[in-house]
Amino acid sequence: MTPPPAPSRTDVLVVGAGPTGLTLAAILARDGIDAITITRYPTTAHSPRAHITNQRTMEVFRDLGIEDDVIAVATPNAFMRNNVWATSFAGQEIARLETWGTGSARSGDYEIASPSAMCNIPQHILEPVIAEAARSFGADLRFSTELVSAVETPEGVEATVRNRDTGEESLILAQYIVGADGGRSTVAEEFDFSFTGESGLGAALNIWLDADLTQYCDYRPGTLYWMAQPGNDYWVGSGTWINVRPFTEWVLLCMYDPAEGEPDTSDEALVALAQSTIGDPDVEVSIKQVSKWQINHVVADEYRKGRAFLAGDAAHRHPPANGLGTNTSIQDAYNLGWKLSAELRGEAEMGLLETYSQERQPVGRRVVDRAMKSVVDMGPIAQALGFAPGQTAEEGWASLNGLFDDPARRRELIEAVELQNYQFNALGIELGQYYVSDGIVPAEADDDERGRSDSEPTTASAGARSSAAAPDPDLDHVPSTRPGSPLPHAWVDRDRQRLSTLDLVGSGGWTLITGHDDSGWAEAAETVAGELEVSLRTAQVSMGGECNDVLHRWAAISDLTDSGALLVRPDRIIAWNCPVRPADPTSALRAAMMTATGRSRPTASADPETLAAATR
Ligand code: FDA
Repeated sequence: MTPPPAPSRTDVLVVGAGPTGLTLAAILARDGIDAITITRYPTTAHSPRAHITNQRTMEVFRDLGIEDDVIAVATPNAFMRNNVWATSFAGQEIARLETWGTGSARSGDYEIASPSAMCNIPQHILEPVIAEAARSFGADLRFSTELVSAVETPEGVEATVRNRDTGEESLILAQYIVGADGGRSTVAEEFDFSFTGESGLGAALNIWLDADLTQYCDYRPGTLYWMAQPGNDYWVGSGTWINVRPFTEWVLLCMYDPAEGEPDTSDEALVALAQSTIGDPDVEVSIKQVSKWQINHVVADEYRKGRAFLAGDAAHRHPPANGLGTNTSIQDAYNLGWKLSAELRGEAEMGLLETYSQERQPVGRRVVDRAMKSVVDMGPIAQALGFAPGQTAEEGWASLNGLFDDPARRRELIEAVELQNYQFNALGIELGQYYVSDGIVPAEADDDERGRSDSEPTTASAGARSSAAAPDPDLDHVPSTRPGSPLPHAWVDRDRQRLSTLDLVGSGGWTLITGHDDSGWAEAAETVAGELEVSLRTAQVSMGGECNDVLHRWAAISDLTDSGALLVRPDRIIAWNCPVRPADPTSALRAAMMTATGRSRPTASADPETLAAATR
């Protein structure tokens, strides 16, 4: 008898090589952490699925050095401009909304908020780019390898995996396991994670097809074309056309009622379905693939249980409205990756790992709820068109045909379309992730507000929608240097190079951003970096400074004084804001770093009490 293979040993077992698992694999490999990433399939995603890639996610790719690689194979932001509602491509256009920050009303808000632009990149094109980056950092990616079971042991985690080509089972022994294994997560099941919400709220078909619709799109380029004909009072109407490649390759998203039976997925039936919303029999349609999926509204109550973590769809499942699925997943990995690296390198204690759930679960909850609300908020469009359950097709068409003759109905349609800004121009939900956790040193004014919503920063607005009386948490991004906020973006010049403030931080290390005067911070950073054995660099940002705030944008969005400093984590989150130089910068910085890395005891002479004393 052949002896069983010897167990593999690693620090982190990442289960899943979708957008979440691949991003995590890339971060861990870049940080020099020993990890194995497994996926049950022989390749990365084989169909388009998710596609909207927002600015925060592009910033993650910027940090990993692959932003340009992603841009090179993506459809650019300019082609995402129009959201079109029509009876068919060739038929009556009902309404149009400029989306994803491309319209003149919002483009400035998007441009000022980030160095990166949103793009449209289908998942089967994106995943190989991240996988290539992970491999280039030295990641160990194992395809056709399935997690069968896993259990926590006193030493770590013991996982049984099966090679799907040979059927052979083997053990992987790891310090930590991350369930990046999608909506049917085996890790969630094995470690008994609990979830809140409902599954199976709707059934959908994704029909991936070729159809040259250039003549109907090049004067109104967009990502989503919503077809509205009577008799289809679903969220996606008679079918939503999602652009894969301008304007010849698409995913047609249709919903159906399983109570009426499963849909006919023969090529003939799918071509007929597609042609009914093209409205031009001369356009040839060729089906590439069809898949079914469900609408869920579910989030894990905790993202961590002992040595097991959930990330991506394993932790949150929601409709694709707002395009937040892949984005939230990749951002989970960005939050978790550096924390695992820090713990495994001995730069942090276990407490830091707890902050992953504290920080990302409220984001998941918010995203899941927003996406579901956006689905419900599409109802008023069908109502404005005069579609009602139970009406005949003739009644529906008659109602639609009378739409533009009635000023009250036109007004109703405008309001229904404007409501869609909460789905298609929701900069606040795309960028605004404000963390409250044990790893964030609260500002003095925060002490009474530890329980505040993650969506409600309180510093003054800069660059918010000009028409808004007050910033809307979902529509507007409010840059802030308050602890727990993502470092705001401002363009600065250094050594005749134009850089974003985001380029001064990240790459797996910590950064201390200082004001106009050094105030002893550089020396403090060097001392603390040596004592705690962490990578901690400094960057001085001010008008006329080393990083020259020539556009005085940093001055507008930062509350840093000349002698203050911001401690920025490897994931570009501000962990500590020291508005003015404390009496002893070294002690204050040491104490802040200890809180931010979850350390219970200092490695040098200071303790957390020092922070309060030193900043007084
Ligand atoms: P994802 O599901 O992508 O990857 C899971 C990984 O885990 C895979 O590599 C799989 O092989 C692996 N795995 C699972 N079980 C395993 C096991 N036991 N052992 C080993 N490996 C295992 N979102 C959106 O924003 N817009 C959209 O239009 C769509 N459309 C869409 C269509 C369809 C058909 C689906 C299924 C999903 C979408 N989504 C979407 C959701 C979007 O695809 C989703 O949010 C991301 O793929 C989540 O990425 P993850 O990496 O978390 O999971």
